[in-house]
Amino acid sequence: MIFSGQSNLPLAEEIAENLGVPLGKSVTERFANDCLFVRYEQSLREGDIFIIQSLTPPVQDHLVELLMMIDAAKSSSAARVTAVIPYYAYARSDKKDAPRISITARLVADLIQTSGADRVLTMTLHSAQVHGFFKVPVDHLSAEPVIANYFATRVDNLENAVVVAPDAGDIKRAISLARRLALPIAFIDKQRLSDTEVASRGLVGEVKGKVALVIDDEVSTAGTLTQAVDALRQNGAQAIYAAFTHGVYVGPAIDRIEKSPIVEVAATNTCIYNGRSSDKLQTLNVGPLFAEAIWRIHRGESVSSLFT
Ligand code: R5P
Repeated sequence: MIFSGQSNLPLAEEIAENLGVPLGKSVTERFANDCLFVRYEQSLREGDIFIIQSLTPPVQDHLVELLMMIDAAKSSSAARVTAVIPYYAYARSDKKDAPRISITARLVADLIQTSGADRVLTMTLHSAQVHGFFKVPVDHLSAEPVIANYFATRVDNLENAVVVAPDAGDIKRAISLARRLALPIAFIDKQRLSDTEVASRGLVGEVKGKVALVIDDEVSTAGTLTQAVDALRQNGAQAIYAAFTHGVYVGPAIDRIEKSPIVEVAATNTCIYNGRSSDKLQTLNVGPLFAEAIWRIHRGESVSSLFT
């Protein structure tokens, strides 16, 4: 049985359609005092339950709704509950890189397990190590095949392209995509100045006269992306495309993308974006990939071929 929280109903419907099952019935309401209320409107007894919820803004509401849905499913005698979290927002808080802070990626993993999740299915964690914060099994999907296919079909003259990591954390991702597309890589030495501002301290690799394919786990305020575009233009890149697993697009993101000389920005539908539209935005569908993973988990089949 497939259920959805409120964060990304179109993706949940897409997954259910690909599986050929109806989306399960549940309601979420808000009390006058701002507390949430969740109720399933069908029996879950002995069912294999998959709850789809991306941790998109408002993140705290969506997280609590997910925890409540897991808890309610367990106490309704579900046989097994899988939390399907296409976008695990707190994965960026994955280390103690300043004094007196919370490693919230681990805290949220603890909450999900405490609420009763038997397993987790997710995609492109900010850092792969977040996987290890869970004691229950985690299936960690990759959007790389979908992104590689987007670049291969959308970019003319692909043999003249270079895959670009916009910061050091993306180098392994860039190497993997570059190998798949048989392309070289370049990388930008990014310095984060604040939550929304970043600066480029230099570029390593040859981009002059080339088509640059920027790849990152997520685009949030597009600060990282636009500093990468500036550095690439200064170093002579001829055209620039970008692709992300998670298109969060908050704050100044769309303005920045619109003003930047970037040709196109693609992101998968792990996050739903309802803001101002832009001709530069493309959406890539990962619904079939999640559906395939859910089918295999349900049948007890191997999922590992979907990880690369
Ligand atoms: C950070 O290290 C991530 O990989 C992304 O580069 C970052 O989350 C993007 O955020 P923004 O779009 O706000 O620069």
